[in-house]
Amino acid sequence: MATTQPTWSPASWRERPALHQPDWPDPAAAEAARERLAAMPPLVFAGEARRLRESLAQVAAGRAFLLQAGDCAESFHDFSAVSIREKLKVILQMAAVLTYGSMLPVVKLGRIAGQFVKPRSSPTELVDGIELPSFRGHMVHGDEPNAAARVFDPARMVQGYHQSASTLNLLRAFTKGGFADLTKVHLWNQEFVASSPEGRRYEAIALEIERALRFMAACGIDLEAERNLHEVDVWTSHEGLLLDYEQGLTRRDSLTGDWYDCSAHMLWIGERTRAADGAHAEFFAGVGNPLGCKIGPTATPSDVLDLCARLDPDRTPGRLTLICRMGADRAADALPPIIRAVTDAGHPVVWACDPMHANVIRMPDGVKTRRFEDIMAEIGGFFAACRECGVWPGGIHLEFTGEDVTECLGGAEAVLEDHLSVRYHSLCDPRLNARQSLDLAFRLAELMRGEAATGPGGVT
Ligand code: PEP
Ligand code: CO
Repeated sequence: MATTQPTWSPASWRERPALHQPDWPDPAAAEAARERLAAMPPLVFAGEARRLRESLAQVAAGRAFLLQAGDCAESFHDFSAVSIREKLKVILQMAAVLTYGSMLPVVKLGRIAGQFVKPRSSPTELVDGIELPSFRGHMVHGDEPNAAARVFDPARMVQGYHQSASTLNLLRAFTKGGFADLTKVHLWNQEFVASSPEGRRYEAIALEIERALRFMAACGIDLEAERNLHEVDVWTSHEGLLLDYEQGLTRRDSLTGDWYDCSAHMLWIGERTRAADGAHAEFFAGVGNPLGCKIGPTATPSDVLDLCARLDPDRTPGRLTLICRMGADRAADALPPIIRAVTDAGHPVVWACDPMHANVIRMPDGVKTRRFEDIMAEIGGFFAACRECGVWPGGIHLEFTGEDVTECLGGAEAVLEDHLSVRYHSLCDPRLNARQSLDLAFRLAELMRGEAATGPGGVT
């Protein structure tokens, strides 16, 4: 991959305006943390990032679908084998529903093993009547509602690195060691899900998959020997917001000589830091990983073209995923001019939809939530815009958890307004629970089937 200007280095972003970075109170401690990160082993290998880019090239060409999903903000407290396993189960279940429904491969990409830093629209927030610095993620400070906890502490970057390493280790063990084996398709249905209508619908698909496997075995196909039935790739991603951390984990690949950000397979630039001449675009332009960039309602076609020129100058399929988050009522109208401009400029991007971040509402008591129906409406608008412009609606970007939380309203077994306070555990934005995620997967699979039958996405 050709990198950008000869002036690029892992530190060249420091010459540009870097938004949403913590102002570390102790510069010597920040330098020490950066040095420790730079001395640690990489979390991912450049060759893996290239393989993901190849899979995303298949998505860009309309031959696969991207499921990117996970926590809004991972937590240093809620860190256990169980929470990782429950998230993985939902990803595997959703992927099974989508693959079965659309008959297309699904690229599975977690918002996991590094999703610890948040941009915030306001520098302060009111917690129990006290004004505190807004919570910006466990990799920069604590979430406890007192001023001492909210002091920025760069040593937390090193703790975040270690938690990411353990999380990734368990993910690799689960996905390569038998848990993700297609013959275990029933085991991914959690108890509180299995008893719900969508859980039963999932059981029916799981049975069909089992029957298909038995049919293949009866035909003499050696299922044991088929690696793809027993192992899956679940890749990692997070918002590459905290540039001290990303720089600390950037390494030169010994095979190609190119730079890779080895904190995750894929990194994305958030809506608030996507200026084409800003520090984030500068940093990510120089690394070979597949990249995402959020595109919100204020983005103009020319903003997006500038970003494409900066992040995908060579027009490499799979290099850039544009994650659109316009809002339920805007997606269908706001997207076509942007999609046409990017298509005309010849960038083979993945078009993905984040139906979460522009659909946050506040209840009268200040609690943030999202309505399931708004989420589905934005997905519908995104599919309509892609169809109008003749591009493949390639992916979805979601915030969910494997737990039975009550943070988003609605779904087949509706969470009602009165329920919101019952199990609201998110550190930041409201997440879909496992049942709502499955419900969404079924509805999405139907949309995809419609697209494959009628759309111009190139699916045959
Ligand atoms: C996020 O993905 O958690 C996020 C903050 O999104 P956005 O940059 O789209 O607001
Ligand atoms: Co979020």
